[in-house]
Amino acid sequence: MIAAPPRRIVKIAVSDSNVSVRPAIVSDIHGIRAALQETWADIYQGVIPGEMQADLFQNWYSEDALRAAIRDSTFLVAVARRAIIGFIQLTANRVEGHSIGRIYVVPSYEHYGIGTRLLERALRDAGPGSIRAIVEERNEKAHRFYERQGFTPVDKRVMNFFGHGLPVITYKKP
Ligand SMILES: CC(C)(COP(=O)(O)OP(=O)(O)OC[C@H]1O[C@@H](n2cnc3c(N)ncnc32)[C@H](O)[C@@H]1OP(=O)(O)O)[C@@H](O)C(=O)NCCC(=O)NCCS
Repeated sequence: MIAAPPRRIVKIAVSDSNVSVRPAIVSDIHGIRAALQETWADIYQGVIPGEMQADLFQNWYSEDALRAAIRDSTFLVAVARRAIIGFIQLTANRVEGHSIGRIYVVPSYEHYGIGTRLLERALRDAGPGSIRAIVEERNEKAHRFYERQGFTPVDKRVMNFFGHGLPVITYKKP
């Protein structure tokens, strides 16, 4: 098999004013999937086996799954030039507090504080409570992001995702 050439990431001039953060609506589903498709393989290349990536994508990002997520949780999108360039989902649990189900920013918009904006706005919208995030063990960028946001690692284990074992670290912020 011929390996795909490395993808070139074009950085965009970004300021706070040309990116807006707002609650997701059902008509965003296509844009959310497109944003993720742009990054999914790059993020999980060498981290999650290819077959498993396809299973996870089908299960977590099907139209029905996204429709339910938008309806039942705090789900925000970041929008620039009318395209969805990032999103966050926060779910609330009475015992365990909030947990970050997903947070993504497309590579050309990373490192402009959009992940931070998404997280801060989601916490404000969701209300008080502790917050947790589960991160794949080798996802260094995400570990750095959560640590910078004041999270600390509290647990390490192998989780079963649709029959695939994945080592993960749980982060928590009081
Ligand atoms: C993790 C993720 C959401 C962070 O999004 P982001 O928009 O890049 O986050 P921020 O810009 O707020 O912070 C990232 C870095 O940019 C820096 N930064 C923030 N604003 C900046 C600015 N205006 N100029 C330069 N750097 C800036 C931050 O200090 C931080 O630096 P660090 O990585 O050295 O700690 C993003 O990398 C991503 O989508 N990763 C893939 C998906 C993923 O792994 N999700 C988490 C697991 S569920």
